[in-house]
Amino acid sequence: MSDPILRVSGLRCSIAGQQVVEDVSFEVPPVGITAVLGRNGAGKTSTLRGIMGLSARRGEIVLAGQRIDALPTHRVVQRGVGYVPEDREVFGTLSVAENLALAERQAQPRREFVAELFPDLVKRKDQAAGSLSGGQQQMVSLARALLNDNRILLVDEPTKGLAPQIVDDVADALAEASKTVPVLLVEQNLDVVRRLAAGAVVISSGRVVHTGDAAEILDDEALTQRLLGVHASGEAA
Ligand SMILES: Nc1ncnc2c1ncn2[C@@H]1O[C@H](COP(=O)(O)OP(=O)(O)O)[C@@H](O)[C@H]1O
Ligand SMILES: [Mg+2]
Repeated sequence: MSDPILRVSGLRCSIAGQQVVEDVSFEVPPVGITAVLGRNGAGKTSTLRGIMGLSARRGEIVLAGQRIDALPTHRVVQRGVGYVPEDREVFGTLSVAENLALAERQAQPRREFVAELFPDLVKRKDQAAGSLSGGQQQMVSLARALLNDNRILLVDEPTKGLAPQIVDDVADALAEASKTVPVLLVEQNLDVVRRLAAGAVVISSGRVVHTGDAAEILDDEALTQRLLGVHASGEAA
């Protein structure tokens, strides 16, 4: 078993003085997609924000063998942690090409890779990002992170609110991207999790309550019902 690319131990995060992540520990293997599951409000986004240093955090976060838990956000980014936030957050009045150019932070950005992965964005390079569909905006958001050589990507609910056909397109892009970089994926669409994720971490009330093989977790109806509030397939409530 190879060393994890990311190890989180005893993470606690607070927002405005209130503790929203109580005790989160998990490891992310250096290849493939690892899912973070849990009901709305469980603390999934807060966990990702804590890793990025976007909220006050305590505990140990080790990236490729080095502690990053004391680093400010820009240093975490420089170490190679790519973040694709919930709700995409593209610059709406800027063009697709401008959104992508602003994300490039290395001498040789992976433009060809991104262009191959998202041919639709090449066609729409002069279009204002705010006028794109939700799925296309998600592609822009993913593309921004993929332009750089990251050690890991943290991707928060990329399929949220998208039509089923577009969900498949985003899942395809994630599958392809994950061949080049390990991904920690917060995802409520369990069909997507089943398709993409090898391992899964389940969070409830700011704590990790289950860790294991994603397919095994999803096949356990009692477990998914109890921890996620859903039956074996479909979206969490
Ligand atoms: N900006 C905020 N101010 C106060 N409480 C927040 C804020 N953001 C999140 N929370 C609280 O933190 C908890 C975890 O939220 P979040 O991490 O967004 O959950 P998830 O991503 O799993 O849906 C929730 O109880 C939520 O109400
Ligand atoms: Mg969230």
